[in-house]
Amino acid sequence: MNKKLEFPKGFLWGSATSGPQSEGRFNKKHDSVFDYWFDTEPELFFDGVGPNVASNFYNSYKSDLKMLNEIGLNSLRTSIQWTRLIKDFETGEADEDGVRFYNDVIDECIKNNMIPIMNLHHFDLPIELYEKYGGWESKHVVDLFCKFAKTAFELFRDRVKYWTTFNEPIVVVEGEYLYQFHYPKLVDGKKAVQVLYNLNLASAKVIEEFKKDNLDGEIGIILNLTPAYPRSDSKEDLLASKIADDFFNNSFLDPAVKGEFPKLLLDVLKKDNVLFESTEEELKIIKENTVDFLGVNYYQPRRVKAREKELDLKGNWMPDKYFENYEMPNRRMNPYRGWEIYPEAMYDIAINIKENYNNIPWFISENGMGVEGEERYINNDGVIEDDYRIDFYKEHLEFLHKGIEEGSNCFGYHTWTPIDCWSWCNAYKNRYGFISVNLKNQIKTIKKSGRWIKEVSLNNGF
Ligand code: BG6
Repeated sequence: MNKKLEFPKGFLWGSATSGPQSEGRFNKKHDSVFDYWFDTEPELFFDGVGPNVASNFYNSYKSDLKMLNEIGLNSLRTSIQWTRLIKDFETGEADEDGVRFYNDVIDECIKNNMIPIMNLHHFDLPIELYEKYGGWESKHVVDLFCKFAKTAFELFRDRVKYWTTFNEPIVVVEGEYLYQFHYPKLVDGKKAVQVLYNLNLASAKVIEEFKKDNLDGEIGIILNLTPAYPRSDSKEDLLASKIADDFFNNSFLDPAVKGEFPKLLLDVLKKDNVLFESTEEELKIIKENTVDFLGVNYYQPRRVKAREKELDLKGNWMPDKYFENYEMPNRRMNPYRGWEIYPEAMYDIAINIKENYNNIPWFISENGMGVEGEERYINNDGVIEDDYRIDFYKEHLEFLHKGIEEGSNCFGYHTWTPIDCWSWCNAYKNRYGFISVNLKNQIKTIKKSGRWIKEVSLNNGF
């Protein structure tokens, strides 16, 4: 029998969602890029389902948060939507109903014994700012984001003690500017690199704003780390894997924690003539405004080998020019999502943070398994028996625990997601929640994993 795994005192047991994926568009004065994209090309979204209702959190937050308390969560991460909180993007003036809504959500979280962690950006740039200024390509938008953050801090900082600037900023770079899975689906390496820089700058400027007041509270960033594992120890494979790691992980991790970009990445970008435009003053802001803590979303590893055939980029630039992904023989897969399952990476991430990132305080801010057609597993009592999800979590927690035992400074574990939610173009295809949602009537039912997490949280381990 496995011995009981005990986690550090005060460990956060919780779950993560985001404003655009849970709230629905009710009473929102502005549209995000995803709202706009759905309105213009609904056929690109699984089953034609968009963000209009999502999981109805705007209307049902009181009963939803009660349910999260019922399954034992002691913390919750969600995001404040720029398009809901802010009435006037240029001044940062708040919208009355947005203020009321987020005030209530925060108060209800606290009432239900959950520490709120508030994120400021989860892929939900206002469409107006893309149309007017080119979105994250523009440094003016960086400054407008700071105004939004300032407004949010002034309104909610008295009760929210943990903040994060971005969720998975590299996904904005990949989805919007390289691999065409987010609007505006461009393939433009030069712009991608500038956006990567501007997002780092925006994060640092928001941190600077946060620290101005010297109030209590901490601020971090949420990064999806996909550790790169080389095919072999050959010099070529190792270099390919290092460049992939630098582009997809360290391009945000290094500036966030150490205040500077990885040297190898800078060398490659300079050599290829695609280095971002920066000023001394901006680089100083990045250097001086690093995070207090890190959130790590972990889903899958990246398997990398050196490129065997040169890519025909037709004058464009792509990081892929330096590496190829490959399929690990005998890998375990989540067939619904097409992602490799590799819980060992939890340990590798923990040790990497400990050894190479000053052992900064960090938590797993997302980890989860999306499964299609979960109705198959409903038992006679109407409960989804998602044992596969419980097993997935247990395995990942075992490797996380090993990293903690070896001294990694991890303070929590959040799953994706508390209540099945709308997930961008995948909409409701794969379900991740502890609680299911019936899309026809919005009835929510606790799954077996919801009962399981309650025990884990109560016992601070399993
Ligand atoms: C994470 C994102 O990367 O993956 C979430 O932060 C997203 O926003 C989750 O919903 C799952 O994505 P998908 O595409 O499998 O539903």
